[in-house]
Amino acid sequence: MSKKLNEKLNEYLANQQVMYIKLHNLHWYITGRSFFTLHPKLEELYEQTAEIMDTVAERILALGGSPVASMKKALSLTSVKEYDDAPITSENVVKALISDVEYWIKDSKEIVKLAEENEDSVTADLFNGYLGEYQKLLWMLKAYIS
Ligand SMILES: [Fe+2]
Repeated sequence: MSKKLNEKLNEYLANQQVMYIKLHNLHWYITGRSFFTLHPKLEELYEQTAEIMDTVAERILALGGSPVASMKKALSLTSVKEYDDAPITSENVVKALISDVEYWIKDSKEIVKLAEENEDSVTADLFNGYLGEYQKLLWMLKAYIS
């Protein structure tokens, strides 16, 4: 695996690690009329995030790399914007998610491109799969607040 792909996969992993905590934050602190819809949706998302983290970390290992495995390191690599430990409205939760999911889409596309340059079709397939899921989620989030 190229150094660049290793770095990009680790950045992606770090973002998912921080997202895992951020999704719990939103799950716990969400308020408003959409509580009963979004509270379980956020749980579904952090459970998916846990699976993605494990899959990506093990893919990095399979390629001979070293996955980020501490919050200290993850925080040094992440670009995820975290929130305070404070109530947040349903509308702001959805807006936050839209901006995160747009970032995941951009990042997944970059990883697919890098993986293809490395002739690594397994990593490209993995991230094309995530890309499809994220695009679907983005459509649903936008429909929800429109
Ligand atoms: Fe819960």
